[in-house]
Amino acid sequence: MTQDRQLHRWHVQPDAQALAVAVAARVLAAAQEAIARRGAFHVVLAGGTTPRRIYELLRDAAADWARWHVWFGDERCLPPDAAERNSRMAFDAWLAGVPIPAVQTHPIRAELGAPEAAAEYANLLQGVGDFDLVLLGLGEDGHTASLFPAHDWGDGVAAPDVLAVADAPKPPPQRVSLSARRLSAAAEVLFVVSGLGKRTAVAAWRDGARLPAAAIAPARGVDVYLDFDPA
Ligand code: 6PG
Repeated sequence: MTQDRQLHRWHVQPDAQALAVAVAARVLAAAQEAIARRGAFHVVLAGGTTPRRIYELLRDAAADWARWHVWFGDERCLPPDAAERNSRMAFDAWLAGVPIPAVQTHPIRAELGAPEAAAEYANLLQGVGDFDLVLLGLGEDGHTASLFPAHDWGDGVAAPDVLAVADAPKPPPQRVSLSARRLSAAAEVLFVVSGLGKRTAVAAWRDGARLPAAAIAPARGVDVYLDFDPA
């Protein structure tokens, strides 16, 4: 593992399966610690395709599911059952197979349209406090969640919790995303980065480029799990 001054810890795994196993273990450990400390575990899920293996491993794991509260870092404005919905992937790969109470699983109702869904999710997050763990992916342009370069990332101190995105460069254009500020309000943030297609974005990130991923700055730093050597 290597570490830089912005408190990024880089964890290189030999392949995608080892990456999923390592991150799933971190999620379960974080849950155990949070539940022991405060009786609940609030986790934010990453979208995209990379996390699927992680979610499948979690589906088959033993955990105190009744104490879990599941949030989403972003969502695409598509019908709830659309295959490209982040919530659909998480439910199919994991959540439908474990007994987390339905009232503790919070998909973003992005089918309402970005502005209405963002306002509704912000209300839901009122009083939730810092997340125990945030999972995030990384796009080839350095985006994370639905925070894209040359767009508003919501990284200012007064930024809202949730952003309505109208013109995302990654389809669909309409999305809802937690802001960089709200995603940073977390005890732990784990990025999961798989595939050499992400190498350029990781190199720019490590070089200090101003990217959405770099705007995620929790107090205790960020752990980045990769299945390639970023050096
Ligand atoms: C989304 C995701 C997005 C994703 C990255 C990586 O809705 O698309 O939230 O931020 O995590 O684009 O996607 P892959 O894991 O599919 O490479």
